[in-house]
Amino acid sequence: MGLDEKMETTSHERVRIALVTGAGGGIGACICQRLAAAGFRVIAGDIDSARAAQVAGTLGSSGHIPLAFDVSDEIAVENAFDHIEHHCGPVQAVVCAAGLLLFQADGERPLIKNTSMDIWERSQAVNARGVFLCARAYINRREKEPVRHGRFVTFSSVAAQLGGYRSSASYIAAKSAVLGLTKAMAREVSHLGITVNSVAPGLIDTEMLRSTVSSSGAMQAAVANIPLGRIGTVDDVASAVEFLVSENAAYITGSVMDVNGGYRMQ
Ligand SMILES: NC(=O)c1ccc[n+]([C@@H]2O[C@H](COP(=O)([O-])OP(=O)(O)OC[C@H]3O[C@@H](n4cnc5c(N)ncnc54)[C@H](O)[C@@H]3O)[C@@H](O)[C@H]2O)c1
Repeated sequence: MGLDEKMETTSHERVRIALVTGAGGGIGACICQRLAAAGFRVIAGDIDSARAAQVAGTLGSSGHIPLAFDVSDEIAVENAFDHIEHHCGPVQAVVCAAGLLLFQADGERPLIKNTSMDIWERSQAVNARGVFLCARAYINRREKEPVRHGRFVTFSSVAAQLGGYRSSASYIAAKSAVLGLTKAMAREVSHLGITVNSVAPGLIDTEMLRSTVSSSGAMQAAVANIPLGRIGTVDDVASAVEFLVSENAAYITGSVMDVNGGYRMQ
């Protein structure tokens, strides 16, 4: 069955639709599984079509679908929302988990003095612009066709809160922009009953973290600074997202949920 046919078959059902970007990543895949289990029809979005398809294939047969698009591309994001809403109906929840942490060609984290324009621009484009484009596409559609319990969840990072030890200035700056955008959007869409919150993970065991830690000794040193004494799991993060998109989180908006084992306390 083709993508369009698969979407059409369930287009008239009353289902809650969740779009997860970065669905092919460690955290995104786990969020897709949690939201599917919670009764959402999940659109697994990722720039990597094979990863998106692989994750959607693990979700069961309730109309969950993969959708390959680049969150940094204005036209691609608009087309993705048009496609989903035309074939499935209005998106209730958006989870912006797509993210990108770039290193230099030699594998080192780029210091500001060595940061190329390519690294700076791509970091902003995926981590910050990508969230803005999804936010704008979502708001315009929900103003025309409101939904109950609208939810928008962004991803920042403890790196933005602490200045980061393993990431880069371009990533930290982009993830800091996400914190501001989350609050601005929370105010702008409150009249629509939509909540907007950010999740700020600490050190979570995914490809992204492993790319920043050079040895098991470095990982142990990192763990020594985490009060709960371990690296976080993708389930730890997905639990927070599952709560934030639930009806139980109706009175939480403009907030940042730290999922970091106590690594950074306010
Ligand atoms: N893992 C951690 O320790 C950690 C810590 C803090 C914040 N985060 C954030 O959590 C989120 C998920 O991280 P993760 O660890 O699962 O990362 P990951 O690298 O495992 O997954 C990221 C996913 O985003 C996708 N992606 C990249 N660029 C894209 C684009 N332009 N359009 C669409 N998809 C794109 C990738 O293909 C990948 O599947 C990210 O926003 C990340 O910055 C992660």
